[in-house]
Amino acid sequence: MDKIVIEGGFPLNGEIRISGAKNSAIKLMAVCLLTDEPVTLTNMPRLRDTRSMAGLLRHLGVEVDAGESDVMRLHGPKLSSTTAPYDLVRKMRASFNVLGPILARHHAAKVSLPGGCAIGARPVDLHLKALESLGAKIELEEGYVIASAKGGLVGAEITFPFVTVGATEHAMLAAVLAKGETVLYNAAREPEIVDLANCLNAMGAKISGAGRSEVRIEGVKSLSGVEHSVVPDRIEAGTYALAAATAGGSVRLRNIRSDHLGALWPLIAQAGAKVSLDETTVLIERGGGRPKPVDVDTMAYPGFPTDLQAQFMAFMCLADGVSIVRENIFENRFMHCPELARMGADITVTGREAIVRGVKEFRGAPVMATDLRASACLINAGLAARGETHISRVYHLDRGFEQIEVKLGQCGARISRQADD
Ligand code: UD1
Repeated sequence: MDKIVIEGGFPLNGEIRISGAKNSAIKLMAVCLLTDEPVTLTNMPRLRDTRSMAGLLRHLGVEVDAGESDVMRLHGPKLSSTTAPYDLVRKMRASFNVLGPILARHHAAKVSLPGGCAIGARPVDLHLKALESLGAKIELEEGYVIASAKGGLVGAEITFPFVTVGATEHAMLAAVLAKGETVLYNAAREPEIVDLANCLNAMGAKISGAGRSEVRIEGVKSLSGVEHSVVPDRIEAGTYALAAATAGGSVRLRNIRSDHLGALWPLIAQAGAKVSLDETTVLIERGGGRPKPVDVDTMAYPGFPTDLQAQFMAFMCLADGVSIVRENIFENRFMHCPELARMGADITVTGREAIVRGVKEFRGAPVMATDLRASACLINAGLAARGETHISRVYHLDRGFEQIEVKLGQCGARISRQADD
């Protein structure tokens, strides 16, 4: 297995092009299940998660053409299977979202339950409730969801008890081909949801209100093919912005949607880094001196993203004072804290709250990546640390960051990938 080795303590200087959003790309890939015409996705990130999703779609009978470029072509005129097996779904939770589209088009589907993950139990009860509201009959058998909808899905009113990105997207993917109107209340408002709705609408779906809490979907009989460009990855952008803020230096990020990180920029500025924005780029600059402590609370969009919590905490570990980091979305998302402590951080976790007492510096150490975003926080800490940091289990990183060592290397980071001994 590979590990990432970083010789830290050098500021970052340069430019990084941000890729298409992983979290959008994998849901967009599922739209090919809703049409017998070809779907072309551009600005696609090349990641382990998109490869896992491609593997699952191929298993279902979709032709997937993903070369070396950022274009992916998907074509599933006829599915050869309506079953998504455990071995393929467990590799990537979000692939569970193929259930709704298969059900919508074929009126029957069998999809493995995804199981838990490092950041908590992550149930899919609200996905299933939404599909049941649309008229699906759901049974659970030996770890599989067996769903059927004789005569097709039927529009319904669905109220989510709390905001869930996955279930909102899943309901949208199913309701586009349902008979009649569906209304989603308390829907998630993430940019990836708007991206999915834009793509579906370009295929002939009738979705209005995506990006707001109330989404209306007027079901249509069929959807056509589409060419769609994946929205820029706000989490990748936020991670590199925080890398520059944590390690110091001057980094310009290109191909971003700066309005999608409205909750991050003021906090980086409050901590003492300079943030210069226009619509599609941002320049982050931080010179000498320690950052100021800033508290952060994760929230559903447009609040501060949980996927940047670990990276923001790494930044605050070097602050001149105490900051509080509250995780409100996932129950177990502080796995990075003991690893940061190995690098000299002083963090106390109580329930969903972490008290971060700033220290003067990180010291390089061998650490272990525990999940995707935690891995990114260890990279950022390693870039700022005195000495060498070895990060093992980098397969987590490869799930969601395209060529991280190349992109950071372009900014002068001394980072390489080596075989683990
Ligand atoms: C998505 C993102 C993930 C991000 C998260 C929150 C993808 C592939 N992943 O995950 O990177 O961290 O949004 O922004 O897009 N829940 C239930 N029952 C359900 C569904 C969710 O209890 O049926 C709970 C979850 O356990 C969690 C909360 O709701 O505590 C929010 O989860 P959700 O917004 O659904 O996250 P994901 O879609 O899994």
